[in-house]
Amino acid sequence: MRITLTRPDDWHLHLRDGAAMRAVLPDTARRFGRAIVMPNLKPPVRTVAEAAAYRDRILAAVPEGLAFEALMTLYLTDNTSAQEVAKARSSGFVHAVKYYPAGATTNADFGVTAVEKAWPAIAAMEEQGLPLLVHGESTDPGVDVFDREAVFIDRVLVPLLDRFPRLKLVLEHITTRQGIDFVRAMPANVAGTLTAHHLLYNRNAMFKGGIRPHYYCLPVLKRESHRQALLEAAVSVDAKFFLGTDSAPHAQSAKECACGCAGIYTAHAGIELYAEAFESAGALDRLEAFASFHGPDFYGLPRNTTRVTLVREDWTPPDALDFGDGQRLVPLRAGEAIPWRLAH
Ligand code: DOR
Ligand code: ZN
Repeated sequence: MRITLTRPDDWHLHLRDGAAMRAVLPDTARRFGRAIVMPNLKPPVRTVAEAAAYRDRILAAVPEGLAFEALMTLYLTDNTSAQEVAKARSSGFVHAVKYYPAGATTNADFGVTAVEKAWPAIAAMEEQGLPLLVHGESTDPGVDVFDREAVFIDRVLVPLLDRFPRLKLVLEHITTRQGIDFVRAMPANVAGTLTAHHLLYNRNAMFKGGIRPHYYCLPVLKRESHRQALLEAAVSVDAKFFLGTDSAPHAQSAKECACGCAGIYTAHAGIELYAEAFESAGALDRLEAFASFHGPDFYGLPRNTTRVTLVREDWTPPDALDFGDGQRLVPLRAGEAIPWRLAH
């Protein structure tokens, strides 16, 4: 069996920088036409000038013969100015601003300490129609790790959208039924991305036979009833939901240790894993809308015109991939079969 679809885009991707970026970029560029590139480098990408330089480094690493576009983002801080937002909007290559609550996740130390501090930038974004991409997790240490998304929605997102009702907002990597319900209840300026790993796995995966660091990401995997709510939303052909892998590579040594980093690498099978999830719901015919139409429609960009073909044929990713500078990267499903393969 084969399926052909309009080339998909990845609306949430971590590419890192330097040799690591050069090692992982081909996986994405082979599958996706465009990707929204996360700004959480060390130090983060906070200005249009920094985004331009990072974009140049990425484009220089795109393998010959592939047409890949890097859609850049800025990292929102307490000090992001309305002027920088206006500059981003007119740049033509910065397509969104990323909101990490300070300390919420990897390289989030420069993030927003209190949302009020970012109001001037957010007001400018609402005005200019530049989307705010949200890592939606409460950083209140008293909140249980599995409740952080739901609490953030109630405490931060609902009031934020009351204040800025026309703000284009994407709740990134939704992991709970509450996240799905929130996006559905809001008007068309609010959307959400879904990762393949949250569609395929529940939190048991992290503990199967022992502690499994390669299933650890943030927001953390949730219980099965949440996974089912996400899958149901993904296949529902609701334009508010679209593909964002959140592929987040870390060196094997940084994952397999006493305090392992959050992040799951999926770009090596970035569309294939979604095909597996959609097939499990008997909804392969709805993959194209989710993967290739809803994202560009929300961002006001044209849909891709080239196509990709997937073949229903098992293949097995290697135990580890090259991650540059002598480092190794363990991909999701290392040493285990994936039922869909990209046709060349
Ligand atoms: O698991 C994650 N990894 N979640 C994030 O929010 C950040 C990401 C990363 O950059 O590694
Ligand atoms: Zn991410």
